[in-house]
Amino acid sequence: MAVVSSAHSSIFSKTSLFHHMNCFKRFSFCLPFSSSAAASLSTKKKWRQPVASSVVELCGIKIAKDDVVRDDPTNNIPDTIFSKLGMQLHRRNNHPLGILKNGIYEYFDTNYPNMFDKFDDLCPIVSVKQNFDDVLVPADHVSRSYNDTYYVDSQTVLRCHTSAHQAELLRRGHTHFLVTGDVYRRDSIDSTHYPVFHQMEGVRVFTPDNWEASCLDPTSYAAEDLKKSLEGLARHLFGAVEMRWIDAYFPFTNPSYELEIYFKEKWMEVLGCGVMEQEILKSNSRLNSVAWAFGLGLERLAMVLFDIPDIRLFWSIDERFTSQFSEGQMGVKFKTFSKYPPCYKDMSFWINESFTENNLCEVVRGVAGDLVEEVSLIDNFTNKKGMTSHCYRIAYRSMERSLTDEEINELQWNVREQVQNKLNVVLR
Ligand code: PHE
Repeated sequence: MAVVSSAHSSIFSKTSLFHHMNCFKRFSFCLPFSSSAAASLSTKKKWRQPVASSVVELCGIKIAKDDVVRDDPTNNIPDTIFSKLGMQLHRRNNHPLGILKNGIYEYFDTNYPNMFDKFDDLCPIVSVKQNFDDVLVPADHVSRSYNDTYYVDSQTVLRCHTSAHQAELLRRGHTHFLVTGDVYRRDSIDSTHYPVFHQMEGVRVFTPDNWEASCLDPTSYAAEDLKKSLEGLARHLFGAVEMRWIDAYFPFTNPSYELEIYFKEKWMEVLGCGVMEQEILKSNSRLNSVAWAFGLGLERLAMVLFDIPDIRLFWSIDERFTSQFSEGQMGVKFKTFSKYPPCYKDMSFWINESFTENNLCEVVRGVAGDLVEEVSLIDNFTNKKGMTSHCYRIAYRSMERSLTDEEINELQWNVREQVQNKLNVVLR
């Protein structure tokens, strides 16, 4: 399954940063708040699809839809995202994500009894400070853009990683903790990317008495302990696999690494981690300490462990999906209940300076929801006048039933209309 290894790799790592920077180069006018997003906001009301509930309860607080989805240039949250808030798939013990979370808990509880505090109900709506500043994400880092992150207003976002909680938990005095939660990122559409997914963060703080007994400096001590702990976790989840450590970059750790395992004949990234930047510890009343931190994507691992071929399935309420998983059963292999054929539709248009693929994908999801499986650029050219045309192929496929031609034609017709109106592009 070649695709699985690409499931939500880190936007903070160097490679994906370059990927995003290239996008920026291509769309050099793609400023933090693009005019295409503005266009989509001004027509938002007209296009909103009805959602079941207009109030959601998040960590004991009732939040109205109007607080999160607003017709305001500082807000870029669509209804489809609001409807996912509070779902907390990771807290369902019979769901693959809940089973995996519990499997990881089991590893830490067995090897470090009563050591790690666990949090899986922290509010996904956080401040820009928590999500970025507190973990030293540079002011001009691409992950802060409106093209990549969901903003409730200019100072408030839907967390794009569970690292958003590192600082507050350190401040509250926690020294060993695991944080699991839903995270939100604007992205393209394929079988391994969904704008809402789940992460687990782990942090462990050491004090001088820990490293003084070893002959190591504090950073090497933490790095060694980190590697040992995470290799153990990988073996707990995947068995006796081959592993390798890759040097990586994250703003909040130094040194930073990614752990890869050799699984089903290929190398797969399992997690990102590193020794926490001293500045984070110092700012949160942990002088004279070192710490390690890791972050892993639950969907990426669950897709491999449970043989789940498409990330949309995690949201399925079809019994033929849900009934296959039960509490404590790590790694039961998912049996596809039926494979309905995809239907492909192409659309071409002249883009403008503010066009981005993420904006396109959001419009397509807004119309087709989980019936869209993939959106891919199949042609791209610039004419003599300097106008650029893109042709995208949209794959429609339901995980649960066959779609009729009529239904797909109507979806495609709506997609065309909304792409034209919301993104201000010229259809060809
Ligand atoms: N927050 C990082 C991400 O989302 C993962 C990470 C967490 C890396 C902690 C290092 C330490 O990509």
